[in-house]
Amino acid sequence: MPRIAILGATGAVGSVLREVLAERGFEAADLRCLASPRSAGTRVAYGDDEIEVAAVSADAFAGIDIAIFSAGAARSREWAPIAIERGAVVVDNSSAFRMLPDVPLVVADVNPHAVRTHRGLIANPNCSTMGLAPVLKAVLDAAGLERVTVATYQAVSGTGQAAVDGLLRETSRALAGDPARAEVYPQPIAFNVLPVAGSFSGDDGYTDEELKLVHESRKILELPDLRVSVACVRVPVVTGHSEAVWVETRDPLSPDDLRDLLLDRPGIIVLDDPADYSYPTALAAAGSDDVYVGRIRRDLGCENGLAFWVVSDNLRKGAATNAVQIAELLVRDGLRATR
Ligand SMILES: NC(=O)c1ccc[n+]([C@@H]2O[C@H](COP(=O)([O-])OP(=O)(O)OC[C@H]3O[C@@H](n4cnc5c(N)ncnc54)[C@H](OP(=O)(O)O)[C@@H]3O)[C@@H](O)[C@H]2O)c1
Repeated sequence: MPRIAILGATGAVGSVLREVLAERGFEAADLRCLASPRSAGTRVAYGDDEIEVAAVSADAFAGIDIAIFSAGAARSREWAPIAIERGAVVVDNSSAFRMLPDVPLVVADVNPHAVRTHRGLIANPNCSTMGLAPVLKAVLDAAGLERVTVATYQAVSGTGQAAVDGLLRETSRALAGDPARAEVYPQPIAFNVLPVAGSFSGDDGYTDEELKLVHESRKILELPDLRVSVACVRVPVVTGHSEAVWVETRDPLSPDDLRDLLLDRPGIIVLDDPADYSYPTALAAAGSDDVYVGRIRRDLGCENGLAFWVVSDNLRKGAATNAVQIAELLVRDGLRATR
């Protein structure tokens, strides 16, 4: 049985990682929970048990077979080479290595074959990309994919546990009639919508979150020239990223055909009877490992166009569940297949 470590075990994703590992009955000889020195000695839940958290160190990776990293890009850059050198395969939730050509970027139900090419490191995509990729893959396989346009409506848990706590405090103050004060983002998020998710890294007007969606989608779908138009928006939702999506296909594909082919895809749930108020929402998707799709209709703006709405739990399917699915693939295929 593999020995597992989680770096960032106390965070928003780390907490869900512990839940998902326990729920799926992942058989591990050891689960080591690592975080910053601030958390050393605290205890975190794992199923019905509790595990003591240790401060991350080189020795903490000794004997570890799979290390799942969820502590931010800087920590991944610092500790991944050390964990790999100690013999672990690192499954990284951060953006640190996703676009490196020799690092597979894997969505378990889209490109599982890429796991086999790993050289000690496998990257988990950004949460908005993760929710969208299985649906785009279904469209691609059926009718070819020419262009994708996406507007995301992203939950604050995508920014980490501190952002969730901040939203709740901002909301309480607003309900008490106090003046709005931004705690989490540059402007208040409670009862608001921010036309920015992520941070501006260049001078092209796009955030890193938007560029991740463009570049990671191309890499996962193995379509380097795919045209992707994107806007990432932050909304006062705790968990569940929603996405309004328009696709242009190479061949005609009717809304009914798309609905039928999505119904056959594992991990995708179609909720699409708007007249009966049946469509995906963030609240309904939160806590689920599936990707929800609804509002499937023709795009009136182009010939081979479809529009739909996609929702997934950013902490589960968008991060923890996929990381555990990658660990399961590693175990199934032999841990060090290419080393
Ligand atoms: N939230 C999402 O929806 C989502 C989705 C996909 C990917 N991700 C990625 O997953 C990573 C974690 O995100 P999160 O939302 O879980 O963040 P978070 O709630 O802020 O948790 C951060 C974790 O990193 C640990 N950490 C911070 N500084 C550290 C240090 N110097 N050394 C060791 N551990 C340290 C924290 O430990 P302490 O408790 O001790 O501070 C905590 O366990 C990020 O790279 C993020 O981009 C997040």
